[in-house]
Amino acid sequence: MADPTHAEFDDLLREHRTFAPPPDFTARAVVRDDSIYAEAERDPDAFWARFAGELEWSRRWDTVLDWQPPHAKWFVGGKINASVNCLDRHARGPRRNKAALIWEGEPGDRRTLTYFDLFRQVSAFANVLKSLGVRKGDRVAIYLPLIPELAISMLACARIGAVHSVVFGGFSAESLRDRINDSKCKLLVTADGGFRRGQIVALKQVADEALADTPSIENVVVVQRGHAEMPVHIEEGRDHWYHRLMQDASYKCDPEPMDAEDMLYILYTSGTTGKPKGIVHTTGGYLVGTYATTKLVFDLHEEDVYWCTADIGWVTGHSYVVYGPLANGATVVMYEGAPDWPKKDRFWSIIETHGVTVFYTAPTAIRAFMRWGVEWTQKRDLSSLRLLGSVGEPINPEAWVWYYRFIGGERCPVVDTWWQTETGMIMITPLPGVTTLKPGSATRPFPGIAAEIRTERGDKVEVGGGLLALTRPWPSMLRGIYGDPERYVRQYWSKWGSGVYVTGDGAKRDEDGCFWLLGRVDDVINVAGHRIGTMEVESALVDHPGVAEAAVVGRSHEIKGQAIAAFVTVKEGTHATKDLADVLKEHVVKKIGAIARPDDILFTADLPKTRSGKIMRRLLRDIAEGKALGDTTTLADPAVVAKLKANYEEEYGG
Ligand code: WT7
Repeated sequence: MADPTHAEFDDLLREHRTFAPPPDFTARAVVRDDSIYAEAERDPDAFWARFAGELEWSRRWDTVLDWQPPHAKWFVGGKINASVNCLDRHARGPRRNKAALIWEGEPGDRRTLTYFDLFRQVSAFANVLKSLGVRKGDRVAIYLPLIPELAISMLACARIGAVHSVVFGGFSAESLRDRINDSKCKLLVTADGGFRRGQIVALKQVADEALADTPSIENVVVVQRGHAEMPVHIEEGRDHWYHRLMQDASYKCDPEPMDAEDMLYILYTSGTTGKPKGIVHTTGGYLVGTYATTKLVFDLHEEDVYWCTADIGWVTGHSYVVYGPLANGATVVMYEGAPDWPKKDRFWSIIETHGVTVFYTAPTAIRAFMRWGVEWTQKRDLSSLRLLGSVGEPINPEAWVWYYRFIGGERCPVVDTWWQTETGMIMITPLPGVTTLKPGSATRPFPGIAAEIRTERGDKVEVGGGLLALTRPWPSMLRGIYGDPERYVRQYWSKWGSGVYVTGDGAKRDEDGCFWLLGRVDDVINVAGHRIGTMEVESALVDHPGVAEAAVVGRSHEIKGQAIAAFVTVKEGTHATKDLADVLKEHVVKKIGAIARPDDILFTADLPKTRSGKIMRRLLRDIAEGKALGDTTTLADPAVVAKLKANYEEEYGG
């Protein structure tokens, strides 16, 4: 089969095809009929308690939910340990010698850890952490490439009740420093380096830069990612090699019985201000939510080989590489590197080699695969696949149909899953054995989840577009923003009263009750499935001595979904040259990380402002999108905009 022609795609899309679940899939699915939705509606607490009952508690909860809007406590009185549920529970039974992690490094090295192996290593590292003075409630920062030690470190923290704060390995020294300092982490786990497109990313060097200004860090554990030629600075007394510490560590470590509401982790995510928020997740509810959704949405069976391609530095990796799948006793594939290394069929080669059955990735990746062409997929045997998932950004129907057809062989349901760092778990999604799929729609709220579309004023929209709201608490919801309880209330629960969660997303609901996600409606943009605050990028830009003012907006991008467009005014005496634009892009990379590198920088003498001095972002977005300009009557100086638009078109083709 050659690449589909546009005419073929047009046909598929014009049909508004729906895809009913294949009968043979339904016949052996975890969920086979939609009575589960009614069950959950009748008694949501009982529904969640059913899944909680499948986990191992050292003390059973007294009350499922204590809801004092906007503060929830789930499984009140219950005691549970996440590492026990992800490891001990399986290692002591028939899954003892089952592969828990199948890992591939980018250079081609491989490791397989059984549940028993993982259990022993996690317990040993938990003892290492204790020996370095880490106690229940202490925060531990983790800055690692996608290697098994990342999952091991997280689970070791969970075992002793330490709170992990994973920082994506692509973030800059300053980002790492700020995250460490915000939650006063006591210990950092990092590595000498990692691999990305054949290059070594010198993580320890970046970490050293951060560590120059992180007074709370007492010890640093350094994982050797096996390239002895890398020069690594080891500061005596502070820095310790992971493998040395592990040599003498006992693998007997009693798990800390955690209160269901004890903190499990903090994960920073971008918001509408310049400062990322530390999203707080607790233990019991988070585990129940990720366990239940992994089981039902990915239809997990004992023999599945499950691969979620996300980096563990993002929430997708926390919930659907580590906690959800391991709580289910699944075999999880992990791959360290880039999808096009050494060639553009790396993902398909991994699927073929390990017999992956369930595959979960992002629309950005799918659009890149489409661009690379089907010759890369056709060289590999993808027949082991039975279910596909998508996450992180809206999936356009064209990418959905391509995924369904060329990766799934028109045999695998595609689950488009909507959720957020804050929700902790998948919220809107098909259930593959029961839901009729529509390309581009995440379909229905997961059983027990209440979602609706509202107008700005708060009126419910039955059919049509508006703002997406969640109107009932759910077990793995965020419990707060670390160190900023007031922002938690203001940001998420204040628009329409204290019981309604504001997602920040626009969406529409169709006649069948299906949801279509349309993207962020706030000052957050989504670049290649990664969330970036426009204010963060603006702060990084104005941090440069030559910049007077900056305004950043998202514009659509064929592959990445959105790209970053920056409008910059320079200070007197600074020359707005092409070189300066490059310098500014690098400056943003240095401040935040490569994911925030602006795609376009347009220098301008003025930014369009209202008479009260507010930057008109809507107009800047229209300019960056090459759209006709709307109403400019509220502007202080409408001529600014016309000029800006002409310049942008000249520079970037409109
Ligand atoms: C934002 C959350 C959820 C894990 C990865 C991102 C967007 C996420 C979808 C989807 C349309 C989606 C939303 C959301 N988003 N999944 N299936 N369809 N949009 O987590 O970094 O917290 O970002 O990602 O805009 O608000 P995150």
